[in-house]
Amino acid sequence: MGELEVAWREAGEGRAILFLHGFPLDGSLWKDSLGALPDGWRGIAPDLRGFGDSEPGENGLYSMDRFAADALALLDHLGVDRFAVCGLSMGGYVAFRLWSLARERIDGVALVDTRPGTDDEEARVGRRTLAARARGEGTAFLADELVQKLLGPATFRERPDAVQRLREMILRQPAESVARAALGMARRRDSTALLVTIQVPTLVLVGSDDIVTPVEEAERMADAIPDAALAVVPAAGHLPPLERPEEFHEALHHWLRSLRAP
Ligand code: MLT
Repeated sequence: MGELEVAWREAGEGRAILFLHGFPLDGSLWKDSLGALPDGWRGIAPDLRGFGDSEPGENGLYSMDRFAADALALLDHLGVDRFAVCGLSMGGYVAFRLWSLARERIDGVALVDTRPGTDDEEARVGRRTLAARARGEGTAFLADELVQKLLGPATFRERPDAVQRLREMILRQPAESVARAALGMARRRDSTALLVTIQVPTLVLVGSDDIVTPVEEAERMADAIPDAALAVVPAAGHLPPLERPEEFHEALHHWLRSLRAP
């Protein structure tokens, strides 16, 4: 597509739902979600630029607007006009930009373990340090440090397969892309004022044990969106589709069924 080759996975036929992965991951995060989609839905899960099998593109940080524009170009390429969007964490930041750029095409929004606000100065410094470390020493440190933050305690106890899958997913990502996305997130816009404009059925999903975007933050976000429902996925941290796919899909599919036909 265009001057940049973007990779994606897809499954099913019918109305489209776009799945946007978090950081520093790729579209394989949604493998189970694509496989479990209810009849009548076509799931599309890109690797955001620089991640998975997608090309990195020209130099510079990866802005959330850039990722959103890539996703719209992919949907155009696939002949998809209207769609629902499900974004996890960084994918949620991209979903907010999609809403800003193309709300007339969006039938529903699922915001998974994400937040509308920006980074404070301490978080920005942390992003710059992470980017410099990734560039200097590769991403092995992330596979060790980030996994501890992203997964809930029950996942460590009961789902060694999910822990391993996450480690491998992180280790697959090019260090330079990790750095560019971290710097892009540090510069992301504040989407808080957008929340009240999201006038389509919205599902706010969060893992009960998420320490990155805690339940209280999800509650505040759901309160600010006119037509939002909140679902807390038990025994999950920051990555419910990986940690507790059955419970995550139950909530997601319930919401999908509630979306009016365009
Ligand atoms: C993610 O899962 O995408 C990250 O936690 C987002 C972030 O670092 O803000």
